[in-house]
Amino acid sequence: MKFYQLANGDKIPALGLGTWKSEKGKVAQAVKEALQIGYRHIDCAPIYGNEMEIGQSLKEALDSGSVKREELWVTSKLWNNAHESQSVLPALQKTIDDLQIDYLDLYLIHWPVAFKKNVIMAQTGEDYLSLDDVPLIETWRAMEKCVARGLCKHIGVSNFSQKKLAHLIQSGSIKPQVNQIEAHPLLQQKELFEYCQKEDVLVCAYSPLGSGGEPSLLEHGVVKKIADNRGVSPAQILLGWGVTRGTAVIPKSVNPARLLDNFRGANIELSSQEMEILAKVDRDYRFVDGSFWAIPGSPYTVSGLWDN
Ligand code: A2P
Repeated sequence: MKFYQLANGDKIPALGLGTWKSEKGKVAQAVKEALQIGYRHIDCAPIYGNEMEIGQSLKEALDSGSVKREELWVTSKLWNNAHESQSVLPALQKTIDDLQIDYLDLYLIHWPVAFKKNVIMAQTGEDYLSLDDVPLIETWRAMEKCVARGLCKHIGVSNFSQKKLAHLIQSGSIKPQVNQIEAHPLLQQKELFEYCQKEDVLVCAYSPLGSGGEPSLLEHGVVKKIADNRGVSPAQILLGWGVTRGTAVIPKSVNPARLLDNFRGANIELSSQEMEILAKVDRDYRFVDGSFWAIPGSPYTVSGLWDN
């Protein structure tokens, strides 16, 4: 398994288990299976509604001694309703309690979008706070305090454009260590990726398999052809592509055979020729386009979200 070294020397496994859309009743078993296979990185978020169940599996594995805490990398994310300074630490504490661990390895601002406290999913414009009301840098400073308190080892962001990331890099005391963004051959995010590399911010690719959406990445002709030539699965090519490129990947699965398939895929190094062929597949196509934050009355727009 490949690892990426962060600024302080800590190492994050290139492959993590994604848990978005992993249903309650299935995710505990998936985490158990994944740990048995050898996954050591789990990507979580309170909005996925399954942290308590994931916590049960983490506790079992840690109590049994099959995995040591220091071998595990656990990421979670600050939800949109806890961007106000005083809400950040309680939100992190709740996540840690639900996951039944003492600290997170990585805590991310989930979206550069804020809701009023107690709003779980904004339904009307009234439910939002604008970034003038709650500037991202204030949220970031509260995240920095969580590091000082020992509640998380690293902090970062998710769904941040280059502009928003640059603002935190310039104005914060701690540099964001990771930007978790949607990335796969249809959405390669070349400019943002190169900026992150230049700034030593690790990119973690979410929805690396296309998140079960349309058009199907797993059915993409070019991906399938490379997979057939190598006698591996399309999913393995997609994960090999992400890791060869230098991103972490967090495929979601609750299926034991696919968990294993993905584990092996993350060890595949694609050739420069295969990488060149896949570079041409880019369509700037988002499965998660953020339009759900741009409902009537919301202070957010899709172009403002991605700064394009
Ligand atoms: P399942 O959980 O039933 O395995 P992403 O990681 O891009 O969000 O994609 C997750 C989707 O891809 C889920 O629908 C998941 O279903 C499916 N999936 C995960 N791994 C594989 C695989 N190796 N082959 C095919 N489909 C997969």
